[in-house]
Parts: sequence; C-alpha cells; structure tokens
Amino acid sequence: MNVAIVVLAGDGIGPEVTSAAVRVLLNIGTARKHSFTFTSQLIGGASIDRSGTAFTDQALAACKASDAVLLGAVGGPRWDNPGAAVRPEQGLLALRKGLGLYANLRPVKPYAALIAASPLKPELLRGIDFVVVRELTGGLYFGQPKGRDTVDGRVRAVDTMEYYDFEIERIMKLAFKLAAERRKKVTSVDKANVLETSRLWRQIATSQGELHQGITLEHMLVDTASMRLVTAPSSFDILVTENTFGDILTDEASVLTGSMGMLPSASLGDGGPGLYEPIHGSAPDIAGKGIANPVGAILSAALLLRYSLHLEEEAGAIERAVERAVDDGCRTVDIGGKLGTEEMTSEIIQRLKL
Ligand code: IPM
Ligand code: MG
Repeated sequence: MNVAIVVLAGDGIGPEVTSAAVRVLLNIGTARKHSFTFTSQLIGGASIDRSGTAFTDQALAACKASDAVLLGAVGGPRWDNPGAAVRPEQGLLALRKGLGLYANLRPVKPYAALIAASPLKPELLRGIDFVVVRELTGGLYFGQPKGRDTVDGRVRAVDTMEYYDFEIERIMKLAFKLAAERRKKVTSVDKANVLETSRLWRQIATSQGELHQGITLEHMLVDTASMRLVTAPSSFDILVTENTFGDILTDEASVLTGSMGMLPSASLGDGGPGLYEPIHGSAPDIAGKGIANPVGAILSAALLLRYSLHLEEEAGAIERAVERAVDDGCRTVDIGGKLGTEEMTSEIIQRLKL
C-alpha cells in the first residue's frame, strides 16, 4: 500500500513526539511492505515565525491531497500575547475546519500497570473503557459574531455558541454507530437547562436514539458529567458532546490514565484525510529536552492506521506493543520513570509483533 502522510510537527514537544510516531510507522511499513511517504508542513507558532500566518493555504492544500495527517502540538509562550493578531491555535482550527473534521474521537482506557500513576483511587479506575466523541467544527470555537467592540464606553467581548441541526445529527449518527460496535450505550452531554444550543442538541440526540433501538441513550448535564467522570468513570461507553464541553472533559478524562501524554485522538470527516494527534499540548516547559512521553502520538499513529488506512492488524500491533512496554515497566518521566522520548519509542518498537 502506498500512503502519503503529512506531518505537522508544530511547536514545543510536537517535533519530538511526531518523530517518535513516524519511527513506529516506518517500522510497520518495512515489516508489512507498506510504503509510507512523509512530508512536513508548518503549523502554529512555527508557521507564524516563517510566514506570519498560523497555517498557510499551501499547507492546507498539501493536507487535502494526502491520505492522512499526523500532528504534534501547537502553541507556546512566545506567541501567547493576548493582544496578538495571529495565534498558533488558529492554525489548528483552520486545519480542522478546512478538512471538514467534525468528529474528534478520544478513547480513554487506562493501563492496569499505570493505575498507581493516577491520582484517583485504584478501585475507581477498574473497568474504564470509553470514547469521547467531541464535535469539532462548531460551537463557541467557530460561531459568529466573535470579537470585541466598545459599547457605551465599555469594552465588550463576544463569542457565539452556534449549532445547526445537521451538525448535531451527523455527530450523533457517528456516536450511535460507534456504540453499536461497543457496549451499546451513548451518554449525550449538554447544558439543556440553560443553553438553547443544548436543547436542540438534546432533541436531536433523542430522535437519533429512537432510530437506534438497541442502544441505551442517556442525557447528562455537563456539570454532572464532569463529576461522574471522576466518581463513576467506568459507567461511560460513548460520551458525545459539543466542542467546548468536549475539550474540557477530555483533559479531565486524561487524568484517569495517569498522564495527558498517554491519550491519542482521531479527527474525522465524511471521507478525505483524517487528522491524528495526541490530546496533550506543546508542553513548552519540557520542549527540546527529549523527555516528552511519545505514547499519545504513537497511539495516534495506530488510530491513523485503523481509521484512514483500515489496517486494523497493524493498529492493534502498535496498541499491544505500547501495552507490553508499559506492563514491562517502561516509563517516561510524566508517569514516574526515567526513559527519554527516543528510549521509550525504542522499547515500544522492540515489542511490535508483526
Ligand atoms: C485540544 C486543544 C485545542 C482545542 C487548542 C490547542 C486549540 O486544547 O485539541 O484539545 O481547544 O481544541
Ligand atoms: Mg484541549
């Protein structure tokens, strides 16, 4: 299989963790006779430094022409001035929107060997296996109007929470489809007691629920959901929610796995290339030190194989290699060990059974 992958390393630890994921993919390619071709493009602060914009049209065109996109992270203190006209995060949003990636899948399944690395009680962590399906191209991130003006001499800032019915319907369909392949439960998270967008969200979730009789649908307010994530996390199977709620809840959920550095994500649209990135940020405090945890990026490469290339065996091989490495005590600093990014990657590669 000939596969063209665009690598958007981005900022901070992005280059370190994406090169770890590329190493793993190259190993898979050699062992299974797939030809993976990698090309790099700039995004985020790295792109701002070069061209003054966080993501160029040319980089977007390269992504559109690819089979899949692998991303590291964007952002950092150098570009963090609140008054700045361009911000690294705009690059990521332009990429998601530009590729039509409305569904962000964030699987959460802690490793038994890492239970002690989580601040939560071990008995709470048993049996956790859920996927957050986060709507990714709507809501507060993109709604218009957005910006600042002056009203009666006061500065006013506005963001708009906006959802069209079709945006909710398509993400719900995906959530139910995923639930059908799993434990057949969908928890739809909203704030329907306050927000109009959430009332539409709930209405559409309910009508999709009626079309999927074999699947249990529960509605949960986002404040309750944030509490249940740490008091009864094993009760979730598919958790589907809008953009901002999903952003917040997935950082919270990552604590269950012991470290933000462990979690991968896949962003998908209707056909076209998918985007694969760890959920962690650019971690400027440890950037360039070679100590970042590569697992989130490596597991994102597994999701790339699964969702964009339908190479399920190879995807599973990566996931099992990571699990074996963790079981054997291989640990980066964030999960209580001493291994550097490259050493951890080598440990995982050694355990790939292809
Ligand atoms: C994430 C990140 C991004 C988001 C930022 C970097 C724009 O926090 O992917 O969760 O808010 O979506
Ligand atoms: Mg986030």
